[in-house]
Amino acid sequence: MSNWHLVCETSEIDFEDLKRFDYEDKTYCIYHIKDGFFATDGMCTHEDVHLEDGLVIDSEIECPMHQGIFDIKTGKVIQDPPCDDLKTYNIKVENNKIYIQID
Ligand code: FES
Repeated sequence: MSNWHLVCETSEIDFEDLKRFDYEDKTYCIYHIKDGFFATDGMCTHEDVHLEDGLVIDSEIECPMHQGIFDIKTGKVIQDPPCDDLKTYNIKVENNKIYIQID
């Protein structure tokens, strides 16, 4: 079975914004930045806070709770308090539709 899952149309995620995507018991963020579309885990690694209300600036996501910052493309912590990086996921775009690869 394919592990690619349809998220939405490309037009549904504004530039320098994100969309929440839930699948089974997990939640993700799909971002639209200048280098394309990217995906990370949806929950901040600091506390149980969803990043869907965070701020996308260039290729970084700022957590709405304590302003921790992660690199959207690598998931790496750029600014504490988070210590652990976000997991990232592959994205593909076909016929203006965005798919995320979840194992
Ligand atoms: S919950 Fe995200 S930085 Fe604290």
